[in-house]
Amino acid sequence: MQDELILTTQQREDYEYFKLHILRKTGIDLNLYKSQQMHRRLMGLVDRINAGSFVKYYHILETDPKEFAIFLDRLTINVSELFRNPEKWDELRERVLPDMLQARKPLRIWSAGCSYGAEPYTLAMILDQLSPGMKHYIQATDIDQKILAKAREGIFTPTDIKNVPPSYRMKYLEARGENYQVTASLRERVTFRAHNLLRDPFEKDFDLIVCRNVVIYFTDEAKDKLFARFAQSLKPRGVLFVGGTERIFNSRQIELDSKLPFFYQRIN
Ligand SMILES: C[S@@+](CC[C@H](N)C(=O)[O-])C[C@H]1O[C@@H](n2cnc3c(N)ncnc32)[C@H](O)[C@@H]1O
Repeated sequence: MQDELILTTQQREDYEYFKLHILRKTGIDLNLYKSQQMHRRLMGLVDRINAGSFVKYYHILETDPKEFAIFLDRLTINVSELFRNPEKWDELRERVLPDMLQARKPLRIWSAGCSYGAEPYTLAMILDQLSPGMKHYIQATDIDQKILAKAREGIFTPTDIKNVPPSYRMKYLEARGENYQVTASLRERVTFRAHNLLRDPFEKDFDLIVCRNVVIYFTDEAKDKLFARFAQSLKPRGVLFVGGTERIFNSRQIELDSKLPFFYQRIN
């Protein structure tokens, strides 16, 4: 797919300056995200405050923490919900996890790019149903510190919980005004921490890695590298669960077998 930016030399230099300084300031390498999408998104922010150029916009970010928070927010699109694409979670519960739990427990699981926690709490609910009371290791990571603070609270809107099966709602969610909070005992089962998938080291020996709706913003090269690193972080026969629009085209080359659509299993 064509992903080239058409800019004047001056605009290109401005944008290069911006990307370099953002990398130094935050460790986020904007070159690893799809360039047209990213440029469009950021241009919206430059225009929003009439900064005039990316260089001037960067200087505003340096001096205005509120504007910097808005920038980070926009960069990291946090859309999520519990049981997002419920039929895929049914497949995980019925066709993937039972074999895994039979082979070994407790399981080591990673929700990578977990946003405000809907994904790891969905995992925690399903696992509690399948293996009541068992304490599996569920690590949940995101690049966005602010969203992780929200995730730890485990509070969700009625829209966030619309796909949660009624029996799970009764057991794992408590009303909080108009919203719902995940029960304390379930919250305890998830370990949240900040982590940049494009930069930081990965833990190893996972039975299951869930990374959904995160890589859509990455370049093809960044995506390929990331999937290969995920494969290396799985145990033999461990499973990588990806989003409903995501495919790993070179899966065999990185030692993954397509077990079911959107579920890839490490071969050895
Ligand atoms: C659309 S949300 C997906 C949430 C959840 N996985 C789901 O499918 O509902 C994408 C998340 O990826 C995170 N993200 C983006 N770039 C990242 C990176 N380099 N490392 C870790 N997380 C990243 C964002 O902060 C955001 O919370």
